[in-house]
Amino acid sequence: VRAIPDGRPVVLVGPMAVGKSAIGQQLAHQLHLPFIDTDAVVVAAHGSIADIFAGRGEHAFREIEARAVAKAIESAKREPAIISLGGGAVLDSGTQQLLGECTVVYLECDAETVAERIARNTGRPLLQGDAMTRWEALFATRRPVYERLADIVMDVRSGSVAEIGLHLEERL
Ligand code: S3P
Repeated sequence: VRAIPDGRPVVLVGPMAVGKSAIGQQLAHQLHLPFIDTDAVVVAAHGSIADIFAGRGEHAFREIEARAVAKAIESAKREPAIISLGGGAVLDSGTQQLLGECTVVYLECDAETVAERIARNTGRPLLQGDAMTRWEALFATRRPVYERLADIVMDVRSGSVAEIGLHLEERL
């Protein structure tokens, strides 16, 4: 296991479908570190995100999500890891505070980059109906938050996951 340069947890943030999980997994693989996808942690403990939204509402989901994020960051401070967050996790003020002690990588894209993946989307409760319009509206409100929290802004509009992973490793 190789240490991350300054020992801080590396946390990938950005909008839905930008590739946080794929790029996070790739980076973790390159660095021989564990990868924690907080959406996956929530699903493993509570069932599908769509079911949580439908049964308990978005507010309950955000509480569960914030706890999963806090746990992942605390664990990555002890045992280095690469973490990816759900697109809306950065809205929580406690999470924002914890991110101050992490290397936050904002994966920057545009609507075109995610359009194909969004079209194939089925499970994301916030993208029901006109998914692309909803994605753009959420991105517009959250973009300043991603930008404010970012230590590294990584343009992911072009390049394969492997290329982006290598480029990101160089920038850590
Ligand atoms: C959400 C993003 C999703 C998931 C949930 C809500 C959001 O994660 O956490 O559907 O509010 O942007 P991804 O960004 O991995 O799709």
